[in-house]
Amino acid sequence: MSLIRPIVIASALSIPATAAVADAKLDEEMGKLAAKSGCITCHSISPKPGPDGLKPIGPAWEDVARKYRGQPKAAGMLTHLVMEGTSPYNSHWKDKVSGLAMPPNAVAIKEPDARKLVKWILSLAK
Ligand code: HEC
Repeated sequence: MSLIRPIVIASALSIPATAAVADAKLDEEMGKLAAKSGCITCHSISPKPGPDGLKPIGPAWEDVARKYRGQPKAAGMLTHLVMEGTSPYNSHWKDKVSGLAMPPNAVAIKEPDARKLVKWILSLAK
């Protein structure tokens, strides 16, 4: 029994382990892109308080993923907002964040990269 068990466990893990490696690579790549593009000045991945214990400046990306879960049009809409910025008069995060609106990020990130980042953000719902 003690000889067989480890083999069974190793083979049962082999597929998820490969997927986890791919995920880790994408996580790292997207994390770097977000840092380079300045997103993480205002956003965290997991929910946490903002500066001075106030509400976060922008919504945590896991919360974004939860909010838009199952909405096929969200990726396109959010990519557009990331590039063009949001309107303070039409906040999707009213009373949940301290930032009034997101400024346009087109100076910091190219559209195809924003699209990739948004798709990754939307995959973060746990
Ligand atoms: C200066 C601060 C700031 C920066 C920099 C910033 N954001 Fe935002 N972001 C915000 C705020 C504030 C909101 C909430 C907007 C609202 O109230 O609807 C937001 C909202 C979002 C949303 C959700 C939009 C919605 O309508 O639900 C996404 C996705 C997002 N940001 C992604 C990004 C990405 C990707 C970057 C980097 C390229 C970025 N943000 C950079 C402040 C920022």
